[in-house]
Amino acid sequence: MKLKDKLVLVTGASSGMGEGIAKAMAEKGARVILLARNRAELNRVADAIKSTGAEAHIYTVDLKDADAVATVGAQIKHSLGLPDVIINNAGSGKWRFVDETTPAEAVEMMALPYFAAFNVVHAFLPEMLKRNSGHIVNISSVASRFVWPGATAYTAARWAVRGFTQALRADLDGTGINVTLYESGMVKSPYWEHNPGSAEREPKMAVLIPKLTPEQVGAAVVCGVERNKKLIVIPFMMKIVYLQHALFPGIFQWLMTKSGYKRPK
Ligand SMILES: NC(=O)c1ccc[n+]([C@@H]2O[C@H](COP(=O)([O-])OP(=O)(O)OC[C@H]3O[C@@H](n4cnc5c(N)ncnc54)[C@H](OP(=O)(O)O)[C@@H]3O)[C@@H](O)[C@H]2O)c1
Repeated sequence: MKLKDKLVLVTGASSGMGEGIAKAMAEKGARVILLARNRAELNRVADAIKSTGAEAHIYTVDLKDADAVATVGAQIKHSLGLPDVIINNAGSGKWRFVDETTPAEAVEMMALPYFAAFNVVHAFLPEMLKRNSGHIVNISSVASRFVWPGATAYTAARWAVRGFTQALRADLDGTGINVTLYESGMVKSPYWEHNPGSAEREPKMAVLIPKLTPEQVGAAVVCGVERNKKLIVIPFMMKIVYLQHALFPGIFQWLMTKSGYKRPK
C-alpha cells in the first residue's frame, strides 16, 4: 500500500518504537493518529510531526479498557474517518520469573500488548470489512518466537500477540485486509527505563545482535506495509538466528536457556 494521504493509527505513539513508526509514516505523507495515555508526550510527538508539514492527531486512551477504546474508535471514525493502517504497538511488561510475578501483574502483561491489540482491531474491523481494505500490523518481539529464562509472563503475552496475528490473517483470508507481524531484537527505547530490571536479563547470545533504533523500526514497518510483508524480522543478523532456530530448534533452545539469566544464589 502506498502511504501518501493514508490514515495511519499508531498505538503507543508517545514513546520509543511507536514514536519512530509514527514519524516514519508521516514522512511518507501519511496522516497519523497517535494513541497512548500521556497527553504531554503525545503532544511532543505530534508537534514534531506537524513541524515537518505533516498531519498528526492525538487521542489519549488506556488501551486495556475495551469500552474506552470503543469510544475513542467511534470518535476517530466520526472526526477523521476509518484508518487505512492500524499499528498495534503499545506494550509493556517487566522481565521476571513466575515466582517474582503476581497474578495481577501477569493479567496486566496479557492486557498489554495482547488485549490492547484485540480491542483496537475490534473497534475498527467491522467497517474495514465493509470497505474491504486496510492493513493491520501487530508489533511483537523475538520473544514470540523463542524463549529465555526470567521473562515468563512477558514471553507468554508476546506469543499471544503472534497467535492473534496469525489467526487474524486466517480469518481475513480472501478479504482486502492485510496483516503483518513484526518481531525484532532489542531496540534502544525508553522501554528499558519504563520496565526496570529487564534489560539485565537479556540472554548472553544476544550480544551478537546489533541493537536497533526507533528510526530503524519505523523504516522497517513502513517497508512492511508498502510491500505487504507477512513478517518483519530485523536486524538482518536476527534472520540468521531465525534460520538456526528453524534448522536446529533443540540445540538452539538449549543454548538460549543455558546462556540466559539465572536466579541469584
Ligand atoms: N524496546 C525493545 O527492545 C523492543 C523490542 C521488540 C519489541 N518490543 C515491543 O514493542 C512494544 C513497544 O516498545 P517500546 O520500546 O516502544 O516501549 P516504550 O518506549 O516503553 O513505549 C510503550 C508505549 O506504550 C504506551 N502504553 C503503555 N501502556 C499503555 C496503555 N495502558 N494504554 C495506552 N498506551 C500504553 C506508552 O504510552 P503511555 O505511557 O503514554 O500510555 C508508550 O507510548 C512493546 O510491546 C515491546 O514489547 C520492544
